[in-house]
Amino acid sequence: EKGGYETFMEKEIHDQPQAVQDTLLGRMDAAGTLVLDELRIDPEELKAVNKIIVLACGTSAYAGTVAKYAIEHWCRIPVEVELSHEFRYRDPIIDPNTLVVSISQSGETMDTLMAVRYAKEQGARTVSICNTNGSTIPRESDAVLYTHAGPEIAVASTKAFLAQITAAYLLGLYLAQLNKKLFSGQIKDILADLHAIPGKIQEILDDKEQVKELARSMADTSSVLFLGRNVGYPVAMEGALKLKELAYIHAEGFAAGELKHGPIALIDDGQAVFVVMPSPMDRHSLHAKVVSNIQEVRARGARTFVVAERGDQAVRSHAEVVIEVPETQPMLMPLLTTVPLQIFALELASAKGYDVDQPRNLAKSVTVE
Ligand code: M6R
Repeated sequence: EKGGYETFMEKEIHDQPQAVQDTLLGRMDAAGTLVLDELRIDPEELKAVNKIIVLACGTSAYAGTVAKYAIEHWCRIPVEVELSHEFRYRDPIIDPNTLVVSISQSGETMDTLMAVRYAKEQGARTVSICNTNGSTIPRESDAVLYTHAGPEIAVASTKAFLAQITAAYLLGLYLAQLNKKLFSGQIKDILADLHAIPGKIQEILDDKEQVKELARSMADTSSVLFLGRNVGYPVAMEGALKLKELAYIHAEGFAAGELKHGPIALIDDGQAVFVVMPSPMDRHSLHAKVVSNIQEVRARGARTFVVAERGDQAVRSHAEVVIEVPETQPMLMPLLTTVPLQIFALELASAKGYDVDQPRNLAKSVTVE
């Protein structure tokens, strides 16, 4: 059942090309138009949506943050991402033109379920992005967009995360298509790049020895920081969460722009810092800003491990170690940059002799508040 792998987590990391491919499957017609049949909300109602609130917890909330960047960029609809348990207990402003998108692998997370119920009571339309057929959250939502990652057994989420991001992109592109915010040619180009992602994830998996070696060499590390910007920010958060969950190492993810606002005080000799590089093609020139961040932390003694695109020559002379991923368009990078961080956490935890499928103190689905 582990498909020849030693752990479910390792298998599920290797399932990721398939998980993304299956999530894309059957969602386009012959003309290349996106068809999301499952989204049974009247298209006129969807066109009237003027605010989106994404509700989720943990890793699924990081997928939600990627969704925010993509949907705002493609659809020009404001998107808020909120942890389900925080959302319920403030006085959120919701009306019938608010679309609430919940993201949950299990579909049974109590915090998210209660938040969705609350949003419905307040009159919002609700869509669930979910990996578990027939689970409670999709049943209680107006519509569901299933991720087709297959059952995820390991407590730490991996393939469900990439499938959630994929589904969120599809939702964003669908709304952009409906509202004519992108030309059909632009949507087709993004979809073509999405369809190329599984092969690129496979390339990362086929070339993972460098990351595994790095992880093994760091088994005694007591703290690791992760920096990222834009869509790389939630990836940094996810890299840190995986390390906490699996290797019980203190880890923190930051938006790289925050560094000077506090976290740089943590840097001293030997501090390990992972950096998720933005694309050199990023339209806001974030690349140069993150290169400066690398210089700033290195000057204070940090060890820098940089996840960057293969063609990113500019970062090479600045980083101690460069971990390459194939190229794609800036918005889609999380589907690639996440993978080395998952492998790193898995390998480091294994080197420490921990049970990666059942980390201490955690449950696969959190069905209590
Ligand atoms: O089933 P859900 O997606 O609703 O679960 C949400 C979180 O509990 C989950 O992502 C958790 O953070 C994982 N242990 C992450 O690896």
